[in-house]
Amino acid sequence: MNLKILVTGGAGYIGSHVTHDLISLGYNVVVLDNLSKGSLLNINPKSTFVKGDIRDEEVLEKVFSSGIDVVFHFAALKAAGESMIYPDKYALNNIGGTVKLLSMMQKYKVKYFIFSSSAAVYGNPVNLPINESHPKEPINYYGYTKLAIEENLRWFSEILGIKYAALRYFNATGYDVNGRIKGKEVNPANLCPIIMEVLSGERNGMEVFGNDYDTPDGTCIRDYIHVNDLSSAHIKALDYIVKKDSNLVVNLGTGKGFSVMDLINSAEKVTGKKVNYKITGRRPGDPAELIADPSLAAELIGWKAIYSSPEEIFKSMIPVYL
Ligand code: UFG
Repeated sequence: MNLKILVTGGAGYIGSHVTHDLISLGYNVVVLDNLSKGSLLNINPKSTFVKGDIRDEEVLEKVFSSGIDVVFHFAALKAAGESMIYPDKYALNNIGGTVKLLSMMQKYKVKYFIFSSSAAVYGNPVNLPINESHPKEPINYYGYTKLAIEENLRWFSEILGIKYAALRYFNATGYDVNGRIKGKEVNPANLCPIIMEVLSGERNGMEVFGNDYDTPDGTCIRDYIHVNDLSSAHIKALDYIVKKDSNLVVNLGTGKGFSVMDLINSAEKVTGKKVNYKITGRRPGDPAELIADPSLAAELIGWKAIYSSPEEIFKSMIPVYL
C-alpha cells in the first residue's frame, strides 16, 4: 500500500513514535508540527517536515495540495488541568483545529483519519474495566474536546464517507524501545516522566497525590500503556479501516492496573536508585481506579500490548533520562 500520510504533531511524544514506525514500514510521511511542544530531534529525517499550525489554512493548503491519502492527527493540547482554566484555547486548538483538518479532507477528498482520543471521554468510571459503551461524561474540558471531535468524526463519516479510527488511550507512557526518540517531553505532567526526572536529578522530589483511596495500597490505580504499543495499534487501525472500509472506536490499554506506589517501586528496582517522594493530599478530579477493557481492540484489529509492564516502561525510559 503506497499511501501518503500526514502526521500532525509528528514531532510530539506519540506522533513521533508513530511516524518512525510508519516510515520503517515504507509509508511516505509528511509531518506537520508547530513545535510548540514537539522537538526537532524527534522528526524522522526520512519524513517531509512542514513547520506550521493545524489552524493555519495557508499551511494546510500547501500540505493537502501535495496529495494526502490519510491523516494521523496527534496535534493537540493535552493538559486536563489547564483546560479548566483556558477552555477557549482548548476549543480553538483541539476542536477548531480538527474541524479545519476535516474541511481540508472534504476539499481534497481525503478518506482516512486516525484520531488520538482519550479515556478522558469517559469521566468518572461507573464500572470497571471500562469498555467502549461506558457512559461518556468527561469531567474536564480536555476530555470534552476529545468527545466533541469523536462526534464530529461520526458526522463527517456519515455525510462524506470519511472512514476513521478513534483510539482512546489510557495512560500513555514509556519511550521507544529501539531508542529512536531522543527528545523528551519538556515539563511533563504525568507520573512516569516525573518519576524519571526525580531519578535523574532534574527534580528534587515528587508528590504522591493521596494514599487514602480505596485501593490495596491507598494510591490511585491506572492502566499504563507503552507508546510503542500505542503505535502498533495505530498501524493496525489503519489497515482495518482501509480493508474493512469501516470505522473503528476502541480503547487502548492493557486491562491491568498499577498503583502510583507500584510504579515508584518498579522504577527503583529497574534503576537501582531511590525516588525521593512524599505523600500529599489528593489531586482534585483523580478517580481511584481507571482500567481499560481492551478486548474490542484485540477482537477487531488483533492488537495486544506487549511492552507495557512497569519494568519495560521504565527500562525504555532510561536511555532518554539517565
Ligand atoms: N500522580 C502523582 N504524582 C504526580 C503525578 C501523578 O501521584 O506528580 C498520580 C496521579 O494522582 C494519578 C497517577 O499518578 O493517580 C497518574 O497521573 P497522570 O497525571 O500521569 O495521569 P492521569 O491518570 O491523571 O491522566 C492521564 C492523561 C490524560 C488522560 C488520562 C486518561 O494525562 O490526558 O490519563 O486515562 F485523559
